[in-house]
Amino acid sequence: MSKSDLVFQSYGRCCNRDEFFVDFYSYFMGSSDAIRQRFVNTDMPAQRHLLRAGILQLVLHARGMSDRKLKALGESHDRTGYNIPPEWYNLWLDALMTTVRKHDPEYTPDLDRAWRDALGPGIEIIRGAY
Ligand code: HEM
Repeated sequence: MSKSDLVFQSYGRCCNRDEFFVDFYSYFMGSSDAIRQRFVNTDMPAQRHLLRAGILQLVLHARGMSDRKLKALGESHDRTGYNIPPEWYNLWLDALMTTVRKHDPEYTPDLDRAWRDALGPGIEIIRGAY
C-alpha cells in the first residue's frame, strides 16, 4: 500500500471517533495562548466540521487532487485574512499527530512519518500564501 493510502485509511479510522476533532482543538489551543485567542469568538462545533473537510483536502491533495481548495485556504489564512503566522503550522501539525496517536488504534511511528510526509506539501501551499 502507498503512503497516501495508509494516511487515507488512518484518517478514516480517526473520523470514526467523535472526540477526534474535539481533542485536536484542545491540543492545538493548548500549544499557545495566542492560538487559543484566535478562536475565542469561533463557533467550535461548526469549526470542527470545517476542519474535518480541510484535513480531507490535505489528504486528497497527497493523492493527486488539484491545488484549488488549498489555495483558497491559503487566502483565508494569509496576512490580509486570519493573519496566521507561518511558524504556527508546525504546532498545528504536531497537535494533529498527537490526536492521531491517541485515536488511531493502528498508529505507529512509521505511520506518523507517512502522515507528515503526505501533508507537508499541502500545508506548504496554505502556509506559503502568507
Ligand atoms: C478557519 C483549515 C491552520 C486558524 C479554517 C477553516 C478551515 C481551516 C477549513 C474554515 C474555512 C475558512 O475560513 O477558510 C485549516 C487547515 C490548516 C489550518 C487545513 C493547516 C494546514 C490554521 C492555523 C491557525 C488557524 C495554524 C492558527 C490559529 C484559523 C482561524 C479560522 C480558521 C482563526 C477562522 C475561525 C472562525 O471562523 O472564527 N481553517 N486551518 N488555522 N483557521 Fe485554519
